[in-house]
Amino acid sequence: MPVGLLALGTYVPSKVLTNEDLASFLDTSDEWITSRTGIKERRIAEINEFAYDLAVKAVEGLLARHGEEALEGVDQVVVATNAPDAFFPNTAALVQNHFGLNAAAYDLLAGCPGWLYALAQATGQVQMGLARKVLVIGAEVLSKITDWRDRSTAVLFGDGAGAAIVGPVPEGFGFRSFVLGADGSGGGALHMGALASSLPGGVRTGRTIYMNGREVFKFAVRVMDTATVEAIEKAGLKKEDISLFVPHQANLRIVDAARARLGLDWERVIVNLHKYGNTSTASIPIALKEALEAGKVHSGDHLLFVSFGAGLTWAAAVHTWYEA
Ligand code: COA
Repeated sequence: MPVGLLALGTYVPSKVLTNEDLASFLDTSDEWITSRTGIKERRIAEINEFAYDLAVKAVEGLLARHGEEALEGVDQVVVATNAPDAFFPNTAALVQNHFGLNAAAYDLLAGCPGWLYALAQATGQVQMGLARKVLVIGAEVLSKITDWRDRSTAVLFGDGAGAAIVGPVPEGFGFRSFVLGADGSGGGALHMGALASSLPGGVRTGRTIYMNGREVFKFAVRVMDTATVEAIEKAGLKKEDISLFVPHQANLRIVDAARARLGLDWERVIVNLHKYGNTSTASIPIALKEALEAGKVHSGDHLLFVSFGAGLTWAAAVHTWYEA
């Protein structure tokens, strides 16, 4: 049974933090951040705004666009996040309760590719008959786990959320392939602690994001290339069949490397990281929504998604767009 994206909604907090704002309290500059990352500004959640709040607003955005009936038949809710409100109850259960859904609920923790991982799980569950429709959300308040004294990470991340409904689509549409992967040997390059004071390999953990930028950069360029090529092949397509490339919005140089390897011109790549920074699991839905609003996505278009992140993990997918 073909399964794909049926509806999409997003939310970003209204508070904007520019590179100039950062330079007022960190030893950094707009010139450094722009040339190394492409990021100009990012959104920051209010002090009392958490992943659950952003997730609810993203779903409200989806309902405003597609109507209340979009939630009919949703019997699972998944929230992919790296900054949940609590260990438990899971953030998805809070969302399930908010919208009064008769649905199972779980959070998914897989670094920035979490939203793509969750789409893969949802697609499999619908194909197996374990769910009719799944509400798949990526919601992040990374500003709350950022060390604001660390210029090497504080300039990169932002807050936001994206929500999609996954369900049956007509023949010829929907997800054509998924590629999911992990290499835990690189876990020390990007981590934040919880209970254990150290991790295998002697990684010491703290309560804010730690990152070895150079190591993550090399890893990202490598897996963006291999995962996209594999996803296109698994979909039975060629690079030139890709209508739109929607990559994880982490760094313009990483996106450019992947774009060049795929032989795509910029017209076929969505980039909005200059406005939002890296919103982790929310980055692809926020970018996709912008592409839709800009009229860059049409029924039958083959979309290519790819992401990488903490774990280290990666994921890619090809989706043939269906417009009802
Ligand atoms: N402003 C000014 N200087 C900074 C800085 C900042 N915000 N952050 C780091 N620097 C300095 C470093 O201290 C270093 O100084 P040194 O040469 O005196 O030691 C210098 O800039 C170069 O640092 P380096 O880490 O080599 O820069 P880079 O070109 O690798 O760019 C990143 C750094 C973080 C932008 C880049 O490595 C990156 O994007 N990595 C991937 C990160 C990512 O995507 N993470 C999310 C995964 S989901």
